[in-house]
Amino acid sequence: MSDQKRGMHGIWSGRWTFILAATGSAVGLGNLWKFPYITGENGGGAFVLVYLACIFAVGIPIMLAEVLLGRKTRMSPINAMAKMTEDAGAPKFFQGIGWMGAVSGFFILSFYSVIAGWSLAYILKLAGGDFAGTDAAFAGETFGNLVSDPVGLTIWHSVFMLLTGFVVARGVNKGLEAALKVLMPLLFVLLLILFGYSLTTPGFSQGVHFLFDFDFSKLSGESFVVALGHAFFTLSLGMGAIMAYGAYMPQDQSLGKTILWVGVLDTMVALVAGMVIFAIVFSNGLEPSSGPGLMFQTLPLAFGNMVGGAFFGTVFFILVAVAAWSSAISIAEPAVAWAVEKGFGRISATAAVCGFAWFLGLGTVLSFNDWSTYQAFIFISEISVLENLEEKTHAAFYLFANTDVLKAEYINTAAVTYEIKGKTFFDTLDFLTANIMLPLGGLLIAIFVGWFASSDMVKKEANIQNETLFNVWRFVLRYMSPVAVSVIFLHGLLF
Ligand code: TRP
Repeated sequence: MSDQKRGMHGIWSGRWTFILAATGSAVGLGNLWKFPYITGENGGGAFVLVYLACIFAVGIPIMLAEVLLGRKTRMSPINAMAKMTEDAGAPKFFQGIGWMGAVSGFFILSFYSVIAGWSLAYILKLAGGDFAGTDAAFAGETFGNLVSDPVGLTIWHSVFMLLTGFVVARGVNKGLEAALKVLMPLLFVLLLILFGYSLTTPGFSQGVHFLFDFDFSKLSGESFVVALGHAFFTLSLGMGAIMAYGAYMPQDQSLGKTILWVGVLDTMVALVAGMVIFAIVFSNGLEPSSGPGLMFQTLPLAFGNMVGGAFFGTVFFILVAVAAWSSAISIAEPAVAWAVEKGFGRISATAAVCGFAWFLGLGTVLSFNDWSTYQAFIFISEISVLENLEEKTHAAFYLFANTDVLKAEYINTAAVTYEIKGKTFFDTLDFLTANIMLPLGGLLIAIFVGWFASSDMVKKEANIQNETLFNVWRFVLRYMSPVAVSVIFLHGLLF
């Protein structure tokens, strides 16, 4: 039966193929688009340090646990968790890991496809030479025009979802493996070219200082939650994507080293992307905290002002799209694999999963235009400036409201300014998945493998030769990860 399943879902041809597939899943919009903008919003260096700590102390050990569960059972995460929970005689709610993962998968895929659609739109813009000799104002305007048009966004979102569905429906097999073997190295090379360009810009060292100078006063409770959540998001953890890929991993492969590779590659891509983007931000007097549009406003500036920029720019956005594509298929895979195990055909399973995620994605499309003022979790603060000292006091909270109405109510005067901060539909999905559901999934996986799964099985399956290393990993899973995740959660929710 397990042979048949392997045949049905595909199996990686070797050690490097798993690294390629897992890196393809990990490296995506999270690295190129999300990491730079959340770093900008959270003040830079100190945030990066917390993020790195989360990757190495929490993320990588949990990744090992997740892959282990997949490979042991060779089933979709929902069935894998059902079986493992039963075998271990653990409380039934651990089965919830699989189900919660499927729900997070739908949420993530829905907005991921919309943002990936932006990169598709940018391929054409760069190829058309739109940005030749451009300035920051034009780059900002172009991005603004793109996101304010729901019809255009829906078209690109649909194209990307079809691409994703196309690969998933055919099975994650040689076609994609072969493509990734060419495209992933190309992504690295292009990133290095951009890095070389960024070295020539006047803002480079300012960018590096922004990323690597630690100023802890800039961190809020929420920054910790965001850093932890992003560690899960960028490593594709906590929802079963990596568990599903682990199910197709050859038995004789050592888990530890393989996974370290994936973690290190993923981190390198994020840091290099960050250095490139902030060099351009500071060279052009842009705002580091300008949010989701950051990458789409900075990179066209670089390409517009470098030799051969239209060409490199076009290729680069193709690769952003490819990186997103190879990630998106891993988000859809767990739900599709589960449906296939239930007896559905792979094509109808894919159509159902992608179709539903597509529909949900319309909410994200509208978050940037028609629905942009409908927000949830709105905090209003009153900012007063007294003798050059800025003081923020909490003024009001709304669970859901139209911010246009609130703005009319809270009118800024010379003495007081009001800051209205809420979450759009997109922000809410993003926050809910990355910052709550993925860490929670990861926490449960760590507790399950650390405390409930049989030690012998874990030891045999992990196959970590070095006894000390194995013990360290087990310790991290049992104590460190649960404590770290819980503390960050509580801190973030209470402060
Ligand atoms: N890691 C990918 C990125 O950084 C996104 C991704 C793929 C993902 N699979 C996932 C995120 C599973 C969370 C869970 O772009």
